[in-house]
Amino acid sequence: MLLEVRDLHVEFRTRDGVAKAVNGVSYGVGAGETLAVLGESGSGKSVTAQAVMGILDMPPGRITGGQILFQGRDLLTMKEEERRKIRGAGMAMIFQDALSALNPVLSVGDQLGEMFTVHRGMSRKDARKRAVELMDRVRIPGAAQRVRDYPHQFSGGMRQRIMIAMAIALEPALVIADEPTTALDVTVQAQVMDLLAELRREYDMGLVLITHDLGVVADVADRIAVMYAGRIVESAPVHDIYKAPAHPYTRGLLESIPRLDHKGRELYAIQGLPPSLTHVPAGCAFHPRCAMARDVCRTDEPPLYPAGPDRVSACHFWRECLDGLDG
Ligand SMILES: Nc1ncnc2c1ncn2[C@@H]1O[C@H](COP(=O)(O)OP(=O)(O)OP(=O)(O)O)[C@@H](O)[C@H]1O
Ligand SMILES: [Mg+2]
Repeated sequence: MLLEVRDLHVEFRTRDGVAKAVNGVSYGVGAGETLAVLGESGSGKSVTAQAVMGILDMPPGRITGGQILFQGRDLLTMKEEERRKIRGAGMAMIFQDALSALNPVLSVGDQLGEMFTVHRGMSRKDARKRAVELMDRVRIPGAAQRVRDYPHQFSGGMRQRIMIAMAIALEPALVIADEPTTALDVTVQAQVMDLLAELRREYDMGLVLITHDLGVVADVADRIAVMYAGRIVESAPVHDIYKAPAHPYTRGLLESIPRLDHKGRELYAIQGLPPSLTHVPAGCAFHPRCAMARDVCRTDEPPLYPAGPDRVSACHFWRECLDGLDG
């Protein structure tokens, strides 16, 4: 396993009390594999990723438990200097908002080039050449000319390509993409997603793809981990999830995907809102929003039940859910 997050706990101190933003999350991704991490806003997707990248705001954040193994070594107990090396060349992150992630006063060529001068000790001239190659690689038209342009001179989709180029510049083993296409329109979204999938194959990277849109991951992900209120509630190979969800929350997410063949039908939305992380409901955190909730769901927190050979579900009634008996 390239990356293995084990029982990770992250808390934030807030005025309302301690928010358990990540509450015992485990997931893994191998080389050449794509793990999609899915869930509504506030479920802890980004905080988990920030802990992996070592860019969590501490304070107010605090990692209170767990391990993050990268190529078998625990990042959380590693010296900061070693950690920094890994962050530079071993793993990279792509953010939703390229405009604020890129430096506005440096040309994209200089920014891309810096990856090679700083980390690889290349001359400026060689670094510039590599920058153009990279821009070509992520299919920015007219790369040789545009290398002198500044981030604001590019469209949103092209800027996202530049950020992807930055991320893959040093050929990291792991890339974490946090909502990489959310700010883009649908056609450009698909192009950027295809590009990511292609680069993942080419470089045999592990890819963690964070999104709240189950629709965009169907073609690119190998596995899906669904998060709710700081926990994984279901994790399974992507085709298993599409065939039949083993958690009512996953079912809700699936049913909220707009489908061409359902045109004109009202789009389903999961009723209610996610809980406050300082006051997570007792039992199953999803029970107030769940149509199939019974007494046990209000009192007993479900463990991650094995719901298949390579699948877990945190629902007491995963079997009924799989069989489609949950209405
Ligand atoms: N800097 C912070 N200070 C205080 N609380 C924070 C901070 N960052 C995150 N949190 C808490 O952690 C929770 C999870 O945040 P996170 O950013 O991981 O959500 P997310 O699943 O990525 O959501 P989104 O889809 O909106 O990006 C938030 O709801 C918030 O309560
Ligand atoms: Mg987020």
